[in-house]
Amino acid sequence: MEKTILITGGAGFIGSHVVRLMVQKYPGYRILNLDALTYAGNLENLKDVESSVNYEFVKADITDEKAIKKVFDTYKPDGVIHLAAESHVDRSISDPLAFIRSNVIGTVNLLNAARDLWGVNSEGKRFYHISTDEVYGSLGATGFFTEETAYDPRSPYSASKASSDHMVRAWHHTYNLPVVISNCSNNYGPNQFPEKLIPLAINNIKHNKNIPIYGKGENVRDWLYVEDHAVAIDLIFHKGQNGETYNIGGNNEWTNIDLIRKLCEVMDKALGRQSGESAKLITFVKDRAGHDKRYAIDSGKLMKELGWEPSLQFEEGIEKTVDWYLGNEDWLKNVLSGDYSNYYAQQYDGR
Ligand code: NAD
Ligand code: TYD
Repeated sequence: MEKTILITGGAGFIGSHVVRLMVQKYPGYRILNLDALTYAGNLENLKDVESSVNYEFVKADITDEKAIKKVFDTYKPDGVIHLAAESHVDRSISDPLAFIRSNVIGTVNLLNAARDLWGVNSEGKRFYHISTDEVYGSLGATGFFTEETAYDPRSPYSASKASSDHMVRAWHHTYNLPVVISNCSNNYGPNQFPEKLIPLAINNIKHNKNIPIYGKGENVRDWLYVEDHAVAIDLIFHKGQNGETYNIGGNNEWTNIDLIRKLCEVMDKALGRQSGESAKLITFVKDRAGHDKRYAIDSGKLMKELGWEPSLQFEEGIEKTVDWYLGNEDWLKNVLSGDYSNYYAQQYDGR
């Protein structure tokens, strides 16, 4: 194999799309998926590529310094694409320490392991850290986050991601580690764990359960189809400039309530329900603590410098997403019952 690329969090939502893209597009790379298989990690997401000759899985926790060193010593990766993280804001409000452990300490363990392996011979090596637009805080009615926007994280999740971004830049400046960072807006698409807004709403609509909308549903998010994010990650990993940051967004802003109304229309059609039927399930509930009002990304730098643009219109993306969830009932049932993690965790224990 030409190169070994270590992808962390490859069993998760975005990570599984990145692993699939890399395994299929680069037969000369050994793609090593490192994941702890938390509640959010599911190797079923990678069933179609798991027997590829250029794919390997290793079960490890990035908070475990020794285990991470061992993986770097054994596989000697040439590049790292780091996605492993605790990723749900609501969980970060109830258990912030889990986010500090995985997102901050876990990232530092990987940075140290890469620095120790590559030393001063880091030519051709790359540590790519995947981050979020949430590090920039919350916008008013107008304006966009650019790469120059000052960090202003406001949830335990975004503060832990901001902290990890700072660590990555610190390892670049202090140890000359070749790094690149991207900060992306909200992703949607197949394989997203049904605690996040879109898959949660799809699942509830399907089962005629209420759709909980926090506050008045006026918060705004910029939604990007997950495969478009994976394409951007491939581009930035190969063509991004050392030490630089790239913002990635869908230029696709929706208030939560408008997004859910749109989703209800798509679900009515897909389920053969009368128009307006699913929207009756919309229920306004207590707002999230510290709920950020609006996120919106300016992806001008990525578009101009590397020629990226999102390929899908939202209408198409949301229909594809609904079709996927309705066509993969077992996947949904498994992730909600936790069966998948028991099965795979047992298979990989002790490796
Ligand atoms: P996810 O929660 O679906 O998946 C996270 C993966 O990381 C899981 O497979 C999990 O098992 C693994 N993981 C968690 N803690 C670990 C640990 N300590 N050691 C090893 N593996 C561990 O998350 P996602 O939505 O796919 O997000 C992936 C990355 O992209 C995260 O870094 C997140 O901050 C970032 N991001 C997500 C979004 C989004 O909308 N989902 C947007 C921008 C950036
Ligand atoms: P989420 O998918 O958790 O992503 P993030 O908080 O990282 O943006 O939530 C997206 C938006 O939807 C956010 O404004 C919170 C809101 N939301 C609800 O209104 N109801 C829900 O049940 C969930 C999970 C989220």
